[in-house]
Amino acid sequence: AKADPQKGAQVFKKCAACHTDAKGGSNGLGPNLWGTVGKAHGHVPGFAYSDALKSVPGNWDWKSLDAWLTSPKKYAPGTKMTFAGLSKPEDRADVIAYLNTMGDS
Ligand code: HEM
Repeated sequence: AKADPQKGAQVFKKCAACHTDAKGGSNGLGPNLWGTVGKAHGHVPGFAYSDALKSVPGNWDWKSLDAWLTSPKKYAPGTKMTFAGLSKPEDRADVIAYLNTMGDS
């Protein structure tokens, strides 16, 4: 099945405890996630990222987001994102498709 951003919006409820997704949304425990796809790790100004996450090279794309959301602590040991991850591949695909709608590009 194709990744479904509408299902991803449901999955995102698990993220919304710590993240806003709207343009200009405030940072919470986690950074605002508008426009994250395609950006460098730790791009939101004023958010106090861990050195662990900031030191990961490259930009957020489908593959890196899938790895991050599988296990944040394996992807960036020492990360501040205390979230176990999404074990179902379809949940990850759907939420990434949703995040991909949250941007200008
Ligand atoms: C960072 C996504 C759940 C707290 C991030 C980043 C992404 C992300 C893409 C990196 C953003 C950037 O580089 O600017 C998600 C998604 C979630 C989720 C899709 C749900 C499936 C959570 C939850 C919490 C949380 C539940 C709080 C318990 C954080 C924190 C960071 C972060 C603190 C910064 C990590 C660091 O600096 O090491 N998240 N997140 N996230 N998230 Fe989440």
